[in-house]
Amino acid sequence: MNTLEWKEGSLWLIDQTRLPLEPSLVECRDIQAVAEAIKALRVRGAPAIGLAAAYGTVLGARSLASAGVTGDRFRSALEAAMAVLGSTRPTAVNLFWALDRMQKILSQEAESQPHAIANALLLEADAMLREDEEINRSMGQYGAELIPDGSKILTHCNTGALAAGSYGTALGVIRSAWEQGKRVHVWVDETRPLLQGARLTAWELQQAGIPFTLITDNMAGYFMARGDVDVAMVGADRIVANGDAANKIGTYGAAVLAHAHDIPFYFVAPTSTVDLATASGDLIPIEQRNPDEVTTFAGKRVAPEGIDAANPAFDVTPARFIAAIITERGVVRPPFADGLAAVACRSARPVEPFSTALAGKESV
Ligand code: MRU
Repeated sequence: MNTLEWKEGSLWLIDQTRLPLEPSLVECRDIQAVAEAIKALRVRGAPAIGLAAAYGTVLGARSLASAGVTGDRFRSALEAAMAVLGSTRPTAVNLFWALDRMQKILSQEAESQPHAIANALLLEADAMLREDEEINRSMGQYGAELIPDGSKILTHCNTGALAAGSYGTALGVIRSAWEQGKRVHVWVDETRPLLQGARLTAWELQQAGIPFTLITDNMAGYFMARGDVDVAMVGADRIVANGDAANKIGTYGAAVLAHAHDIPFYFVAPTSTVDLATASGDLIPIEQRNPDEVTTFAGKRVAPEGIDAANPAFDVTPARFIAAIITERGVVRPPFADGLAAVACRSARPVEPFSTALAGKESV
């Protein structure tokens, strides 16, 4: 099963809300279904959200073209539908990066007929999906160098193939180290409240045969204090100009603990996650989700009725707690501002074959 796949005019997604116990696919036939799937976390993880939005735009264009809508009405109706996609989840900047790429195609094809525009959008979405795998493999190569043989690695949330088109970001690095023959053991934070670690990361690592142990989020300090964690690797939803990084709620706490125990804390993210237009982490919009996700566990109410509960989906790790940021263009070290600007100002698309970039193995 692929995380997302375009087949016979529909976008097919693994329904991640039903993993690992009921693996199933969901078919999105229109842009509204894609928006619902993103909001409900059927598809999730910053890169995968961007890819889903790209294909959602294709679906929107195709249905307008089939309905005979043309000219300015086609363009404005499609842009309105894209705005609905853009309103689903505010934190992962990959969503807006992907919509920007689709918007550029829309502008380039301004003189084309709607069916031709829809085809051009599909080509772009397919290109993004292909690039995603190359990017993840490149980050895997760079990041694996930071994992010594025999490492015990803490990770949070899910950053594997399910969170991207394939292979994964932070989990891609771990996978790459494992494929190189390094012995690793992964501590998997369960990731309350929606259990992306317990449900998704544990599932992916089990399938890959990589040794791991599932822990609850509040156990990380215990294992760090015992000397049982050598490295921490997480993904990101948005990394801003000064190096502050937003990721799944609980990442900040893990980073502070790692700092207190002298454990290097790495973020792994494609340059499509880097947002140079935002100066610092306090300006990142944080998605607030339904408190019912906190008052329930696996769909069953566990807290008293009638109480208040908060549910921020992400937190921001200040740059001072981050040892390095691994991108597909190299490893960026503190202070991050110049290095991030150097990797992210280059085209988001590979401007040279990735094999060439890898041969350079640069550290920015
Ligand atoms: O709410 P989610 O499950 O979409 O959150 C996902 C994360 O926080 C991931 O760590 C992040 O998107 C990086 S995924 C490669």
